[in-house]
Amino acid sequence: MDFSNYLKHITQLVDDYLKQYFPPKSEQSGLIWTAMEYSLFAGGKRLRPILAILANQVVGGDLAAALPVACALEFIHTYSLIHDDLPAMDNDDYRRGKLTNHKVYGEAIAILAGDGLLTHAFYLLSDGLENLLPPAEIVRIIKEIALAAGPLGMVGGQVADLLAEGHSSSGEQLEYIYNRKTGALIKAAIRAGALSGGCNQEQLEVLTTYAEKIGLSFQIIDDILDLIGDEDKIGKRVGSDLKNNKLTYPNLYGLDFSRKKAQQLVDEAKKEIFALFGDKCEYLLALADYILNRDR
Ligand code: IPE
Ligand code: IPE
Ligand code: MG
Ligand code: MG
Ligand code: MG
Repeated sequence: MDFSNYLKHITQLVDDYLKQYFPPKSEQSGLIWTAMEYSLFAGGKRLRPILAILANQVVGGDLAAALPVACALEFIHTYSLIHDDLPAMDNDDYRRGKLTNHKVYGEAIAILAGDGLLTHAFYLLSDGLENLLPPAEIVRIIKEIALAAGPLGMVGGQVADLLAEGHSSSGEQLEYIYNRKTGALIKAAIRAGALSGGCNQEQLEVLTTYAEKIGLSFQIIDDILDLIGDEDKIGKRVGSDLKNNKLTYPNLYGLDFSRKKAQQLVDEAKKEIFALFGDKCEYLLALADYILNRDR
């Protein structure tokens, strides 16, 4: 299967699995499910689920064990987007090509929809893995994801991102922010995906290096698209970072250098995995290129 068909196939699997964790319409306790569903099925790229599944597959894992990991990460990622867009944070009106959650449901419900997605992620993860992996493996995966999503990972990065607004800062500070606000969940997707597939230590280390490099590259491209992207394609307004005086790669180093850096990181990431997995990692190589060349 070529890469673009493979992506479509995985996206469908993920969407079907996500839907299982929404109660039937007749049993839905109202607005919270509607608000959660609105953002979850608004048309995200499903990058973190895809990474988790590719990592599971490259180490020869059972796809069934990757799906709860993949879907829990998409729940957590979607929650982070809903909260990121709130007036108290980036104050954005469009996301995934639609009005942001708080624009449709109001701030209180948007906050709760985020809380709902975050909490339900850990229900889905533990419920989905319960009969598939030994308890110690499940605990290891839950730890990995909880650590990446929380104050030592994404939440910590979001705080640093807000505190850096309007301040001149160093490249070191910028990498600190990127590695946490975006890198942590991308790394968790790869690592937890690999763990769900029963990886060995060497495979985990190599995949971790790959994840760190593509994670940084991913956020550099996000910042470039925020400056010069096509709003219809990215599904959000351009210029959000300028409006908020964000510390970003292009703003610190310029567009040219940022593009080169993103390219260099992707080249290094590909080299790293190819040395260990060879032709078996074809889709992970294609995914690294996709991250670099994406227009959405
Ligand atoms: C956007 O992530 C937020 C960042 C961490 C930069 P994505 O670009 O993966 O967003 P979706 O999931 O496709 O909407
Ligand atoms: C957000 O970074 C990272 C998250 C944890 C959501 P951005 O604020 O740059 O993401 P976008 O550009 O709004 O998607
Ligand atoms: Mg933000
Ligand atoms: Mg934002
Ligand atoms: Mg951005």
